[in-house]
Amino acid sequence: MIRTVIFLFVIFFYATPVLAWWEKEHQVVAIIAENNLSEAARKQVNLLLDGESLASVSSWADSIKSDPKWAHSKRWHYINAGPNQNFDKHRPVPVGDILWALDYFYQELQKPDNSKQARREALMFFVHFVGDVHQPLHVGKYDDAGGNRVAVNWYNSPRKHNLHRVWDGLLTHSKLSAKEYAKTFEKPSKSQRLKWQHSTFADWANESLILNENIYDFGVGEDQKIMPLGRWYHEKNQPIAKKRLHQAGIRLAFYLNRIPLN
Ligand code: ADE
Ligand code: ZN
Ligand code: ZN
Repeated sequence: MIRTVIFLFVIFFYATPVLAWWEKEHQVVAIIAENNLSEAARKQVNLLLDGESLASVSSWADSIKSDPKWAHSKRWHYINAGPNQNFDKHRPVPVGDILWALDYFYQELQKPDNSKQARREALMFFVHFVGDVHQPLHVGKYDDAGGNRVAVNWYNSPRKHNLHRVWDGLLTHSKLSAKEYAKTFEKPSKSQRLKWQHSTFADWANESLILNENIYDFGVGEDQKIMPLGRWYHEKNQPIAKKRLHQAGIRLAFYLNRIPLN
């Protein structure tokens, strides 16, 4: 009996996939979007995804990064900036960054001559990148690769953390599932919604860049080599992350509602 229990425990432990960074967050964005889709858009999304939910495909773009066939897609997940830069005059280049990818896949999604598979892929990329561009550190500084090179001590965990990872998983610490978490968002007022919606991909990136200032405000211990971050930092930044997910979801729905998917 005890051997069976140990066996089951080991199987469970190893078989449970480790959540990719930002996975729950991507699901929350997709669920908010689904709740705000027009009937027509919902039908078309359903058709393209063969009945799968937007949430269930929202991290597909992360899952293929380790496939050599998709190695070139890694840089589509982010864009970095130098000091005093913004993206107002950014010219998307085909080597690819997140602003290029948002533009490209939003177009691909709409081309009637594309195969269903091509449009399905475009949708899966688009859903994911709308989430990523709202994660402030996916629009980060060149200097530290969007926080990837900033070592931090997260809640005294013995595991190595960096600032980017902390932000990718700010909600993973929440005990709520993505579905439950999505229910905790208040409906935005009409004026709030309009303000959020009428914005470009570059606007979203600029907002993320501005939020970077907050992210590097560690409060205490700024002279320490490894920044100790925990409850204080978490509580201060969780509302910011939450608002970004909300904006991403509302905007994703708006962009999908606008196109004649067929
Ligand atoms: N991976 C995800 N976001 C990144 C960023 N801003 N810079 C470098 N690598 C990243
Ligand atoms: Zn990503
Ligand atoms: Zn990330």
